[in-house]
Amino acid sequence: MRKIIIDTDPGIDDAAAIAIAMFSRELDVQLITTVAGNVSLDKTTRNALRLMSFWGADVPVAAGADRPLVGPVYDAAEAHGESGMEGFDFEEITVKPLKLHAVEAMRRVLLQSDEKITLVPIGPLTNIALLFSLYPEVKEKVEEIVLMGGAFTRGNITPLAEFNIFADPEAADMVFRSGLPIVMCGLELARSALITGEMVAKIRDLNPTGQMVYSLFEHYRGGNMQSGQRMYDSTAVCYLLAPELYTVQECYVGVEVASPLTRGTTVCDLEGFWNKQPNVKVCTAIDPQGFAGLFLRSLAGAQGVPENPTAATWLHQEK
Ligand code: BDR
Ligand code: CA
Repeated sequence: MRKIIIDTDPGIDDAAAIAIAMFSRELDVQLITTVAGNVSLDKTTRNALRLMSFWGADVPVAAGADRPLVGPVYDAAEAHGESGMEGFDFEEITVKPLKLHAVEAMRRVLLQSDEKITLVPIGPLTNIALLFSLYPEVKEKVEEIVLMGGAFTRGNITPLAEFNIFADPEAADMVFRSGLPIVMCGLELARSALITGEMVAKIRDLNPTGQMVYSLFEHYRGGNMQSGQRMYDSTAVCYLLAPELYTVQECYVGVEVASPLTRGTTVCDLEGFWNKQPNVKVCTAIDPQGFAGLFLRSLAGAQGVPENPTAATWLHQEK
């Protein structure tokens, strides 16, 4: 099993991605860290705890940054609802967040691990940037960063910028310049990673997790049931499970932090104009049928209590 840490801002599409990772037999989720993004940090953390309680899962949750490094706070409550995961009546929260800050929790998990760990950020990159700048020694323990964020054509929050990068461009800039291997699952993929009206009915009838995800989708404005719901964050998790579904091109990617017109844009030099050393594997396309099949199979397997054999439960004892 491949060890991963998910850094997230749940988020309706985050919830689906977390479900796939938690129940996958190929992924061993060590830790879930939360960040302000789709909604405020207290809400994203609460949503992560709601998911863990729903599944009776023992993967620890640590709250991280409540605002971007430099710029103003933006949210996406318009798409995900006031709570960030509107549409399903979750029962009481039965698990507690760690007493540790997300950055501290990530540091401990990475340093104690014998193997390298893959980071899967599916929200703004604030926690990851803080981790690398406070504790650069952890970079040696990072296998790669497989993230949802950015775009190489156009944006979804400004003409050119994608939400996760726009929400904290300075953090994204630091991460993209970290020197670590990065796989970028950007906006373009989600336009093919669609859950259609036909599929949602199947999802609803699969099991309690399918029912929960279906209820959230009904309230999600990342698309609609007719044209299909865009599964942004699941494209990062599914890359780990089936990279053969993706078309990938390595190139240099820079993050614009200064220009008021293009702040938060991932400038992808796919044509090699700058002749710079590639720093990112940009996923330029995904097989839509392959993705849909994997998504459905993954949720169909989301039965019982998820097994993540080496989840960092020991962190609950640490301060
Ligand atoms: C990204 O922004 C958020 O609203 C989604 O959860 C996803 O991570 C898509 O731009
Ligand atoms: Ca997200």
